[in-house]
Amino acid sequence: MNVLGIESSCDETSVAIISNEKLTANLISSQDFHSKYGGVVPELSSRAHLQIVIPLVKDALKKSGLNLNDIDVICSTAGPGLIGALLVGLTFAKGLSYSLNKPFVAVNHIEGHIFSGFLMEDKPEFPFLALVVSGGHTLLLLVESFTVVKKLGTTVDDAAGEAFDKVAKMLGFGYPGGPKIQTAALDGDAGKINFPVAELKDPYNFSFSGLKTAVLRYIQKNYPGVQNIPGNDLKDIAASFQNAVVKALIRNTEKALNNYDVNSVSLVGGVAANKALRESMIGLAGKYGKKIVIPGLEFCGDNAAMIAFRGARLYETGYRSGLDYSPFPGLSSEHFS
Ligand code: KG4
Ligand code: ZN
Repeated sequence: MNVLGIESSCDETSVAIISNEKLTANLISSQDFHSKYGGVVPELSSRAHLQIVIPLVKDALKKSGLNLNDIDVICSTAGPGLIGALLVGLTFAKGLSYSLNKPFVAVNHIEGHIFSGFLMEDKPEFPFLALVVSGGHTLLLLVESFTVVKKLGTTVDDAAGEAFDKVAKMLGFGYPGGPKIQTAALDGDAGKINFPVAELKDPYNFSFSGLKTAVLRYIQKNYPGVQNIPGNDLKDIAASFQNAVVKALIRNTEKALNNYDVNSVSLVGGVAANKALRESMIGLAGKYGKKIVIPGLEFCGDNAAMIAFRGARLYETGYRSGLDYSPFPGLSSEHFS
């Protein structure tokens, strides 16, 4: 079976092919031009998806040694994401499905991330805890099977990646901020500034907006009227901020490990690329004797391999989407029990 996956929810256009369970292509085109605007410009994102999606499909087919007619099922992200960006990939996928007379499967982007650990050689074992940390979402989930996912906690304000991006902007690092903060933090002192780690009434929920404000206040107080914060101080702020985010994510995951009998822990989403977080999560899983699965970097950020994988599982369980399937921008509560 040859599965084509298409992802276009934000600023990455990606096309992947899974051929007889094997990933044969996962092409990702990142829209780097958004960095000069300090964030993703939705309309520009849609136009860039439109320009690149067909060449990417051709390249993915070539790389896999296949023709369009060899594709058995077409999968595309339907949401959550930027509505215009989603429309491009979804409409293209539906058009392809119609013209080839092959089934179409709409995929939830977050479900793609949740099961992205299955793209690795060593896969998560059910039930597992999934910490989904991306630019738009922060979710702690109990994943019992490919069909049963229970939400334990989420962010009450900013997503973890959003906090990285906003703090990076304050520090003059540009977009996307996560990788830049990670690099600056490498030579910084993570214990230098004691930024707050919010503790909420709901034990599994997260809050990052207070932390973001604390960084802003720290900058305003210590560098009034200063255009460029000295390099070493920037590194310390980046390291201390990163440390606070990692602490919050690890603390709630540890609470869940104390209360749920799971076989594995999986750290997924764009922020899962963060080295400090990866190392802390490996340490935490080790402490509890749990298997840890963190996807390789090409499967952490947005990619179509995870969409093709998720779509293939849905297809195998008999799931098909109609060609009237509409994109959805947000994650509604009915998605997780
Ligand atoms: O999953 P993703 O590619 O897109 C969404 O679905 O949102 O996640 C993007 C987010 C951005 O906020 C980006 O700054 C963050 O992931 N990110 C990182 C790192 N690499 C990407 N955050 C922290 N450290 C990193 N190394
Ligand atoms: Zn994502």
